[in-house]
Amino acid sequence: EVMKEVADIRNMEQALKEKLGLEEVYIVPGDSDDYSWVKKEMGRACVTIMKKKLFPKGNTIAVTGGTSIAAVAEMMVPDTDLKEALFLPARGGLGEQVENQANTICATMARKAMGSYRLLHVPDQLSKEAYESLVEEESIRDILASIRSANIVIHGIGNAETMAKRRNSTSELLEKLQQENAVAEAFGYYFDETGDIIHKVLTIGLQLENLKGIPNIIAVSGGSSKAKAIEAYMKQRSSQILVTDEGAAKGILLNS
Ligand code: BG6
Repeated sequence: EVMKEVADIRNMEQALKEKLGLEEVYIVPGDSDDYSWVKKEMGRACVTIMKKKLFPKGNTIAVTGGTSIAAVAEMMVPDTDLKEALFLPARGGLGEQVENQANTICATMARKAMGSYRLLHVPDQLSKEAYESLVEEESIRDILASIRSANIVIHGIGNAETMAKRRNSTSELLEKLQQENAVAEAFGYYFDETGDIIHKVLTIGLQLENLKGIPNIIAVSGGSSKAKAIEAYMKQRSSQILVTDEGAAKGILLNS
């Protein structure tokens, strides 16, 4: 029975890899929509995978916010290769509660890994003027350069509507997302079913176009409710690696 389950999961990983055009897919058993331990298992799996991607020295790891990446931080353990690692938030304020902010997660990861970290202190709501003057600041330019040269990025993928509401977005934005059929969200960008960008939150840090230069991009996202979001996001911007759960995997594979 157990052996069959393992074989089923391996088959699903292969099928998902092909369907989404990814290099590596890891599926943990269960559905994180139903059980919170499933999300923790995704976190644990991500830590294992991340360790395999580390350079012997001088790693820079950028992370986004969200409960899935918070689970990765929770599962982080020290490693000799991680000692000199620098942890950074991928992007500035995106309107999350403190425990789910990229800054908080990045500090927790660094503490658990016994590495170091730097933070991006940027308000959630940035005017164009504020944005333009912030990116000119010496200290910010410095950290932005480090973020763009990260060798590992770990990010979440959310449902568009869930994320827009969680960020207390304006009713105008909620309407726009609904009208244009936004289904997915990642890095502060909202996407429709074909993976086209519908809207982007103005904040400093990693922009989607910067991802091209990053060798290891790991997405951590699961739960049957996120199947559509994961599939949509991966249509145009494959992170090479996906850590997900059985709930999401089944949802994506059944949706042909
Ligand atoms: C947010 C990120 O913090 O977390 C989003 O900014 C991401 O890009 C979201 O989609 C995912 O959250 P969760 O809780 O579903 O892992």
